[in-house]
Amino acid sequence: MRDIRKAVLPVAGWGTRFLPATKAMPKEMLPIIDKPIIQFIVEALVNVGIENLIFVTGRHKKAIENHFDHNVELEEHLKKAGKEKLLKEVVYIANMINPIYVRQKEQLGLGHAVLMAEPAVSQEPFIVALGDIIIDNEEEELSRMLKLFRKFGNSIIALMEVPWEEVSKYGIAKVRELDEETYIIEDLVEKPSPEEAPSNLAIVGRYAFTPSIFEKLKITKPGKGGEIQLTDAMKMLLEEEAIYAYKVKNPVYDTGTPLGYLKTVITFALRREDINGELKEFIKERIGLIGDVR
Ligand code: G1P
Repeated sequence: MRDIRKAVLPVAGWGTRFLPATKAMPKEMLPIIDKPIIQFIVEALVNVGIENLIFVTGRHKKAIENHFDHNVELEEHLKKAGKEKLLKEVVYIANMINPIYVRQKEQLGLGHAVLMAEPAVSQEPFIVALGDIIIDNEEEELSRMLKLFRKFGNSIIALMEVPWEEVSKYGIAKVRELDEETYIIEDLVEKPSPEEAPSNLAIVGRYAFTPSIFEKLKITKPGKGGEIQLTDAMKMLLEEEAIYAYKVKNPVYDTGTPLGYLKTVITFALRREDINGELKEFIKERIGLIGDVR
């Protein structure tokens, strides 16, 4: 099996949990302070050598295409204004990747979105990275995934432990431990209730696939929520090919809900030296006020 050179980023979702903010703007473009969510994963992929990125988009996602392209007027303006640092940054983003944009014309689920990328991926292994998840030191996690892929030549999933009361938000894996770092998948279930869940090991939203996943996606019937689920296609793939997994070591931020998004923004803002001094004072003051109200 050849090395992984491509990644698929399904970004066609409506972002209903963020309406009305996402009525005209993709949820992947919501900022974590001053950087859109999608740029975090794109940078990490580029840093591990994956520059052929296939975005599965929809009608309302033009802003993502524009973000990873030149904005000539803005570049001219920054040049004239002598804002060299900002100019360098916007030009860097425009040159960062070789994007391919594929349309998902009907939103039939994550599995269906990944299948839309088949003509662009062709018969190659590839990564799938969901746009609403940010991982600290993501390069380290992606490198582990690529290393495992090179070792086994099979599909690999990143997993994380979640509280049992949250298993119904994720795809959940039943695993057998191979060694301290590696698991083999025995079963997968999309968004089970805590009673049905075989473990509390959740699929993070980072996968490496052999191209045989496409054959399974083509015959995957609508599952949870009436959607064609990637997890169900992986479950079918398990009957023919082993799937391996590893547990991520770094904190994962799920920006897909308003609360998760806010937690991410606060965490990243508290790390930023140009902001955190005054921000800490502000938060203390606000918490003090809440205390008073109680
Ligand atoms: C998707 C997948 C799920 C995975 C999750 C990670 O669900 O279907 O298996 O655990 O992403 O964020 P979604 O959050 O898109 O509903």
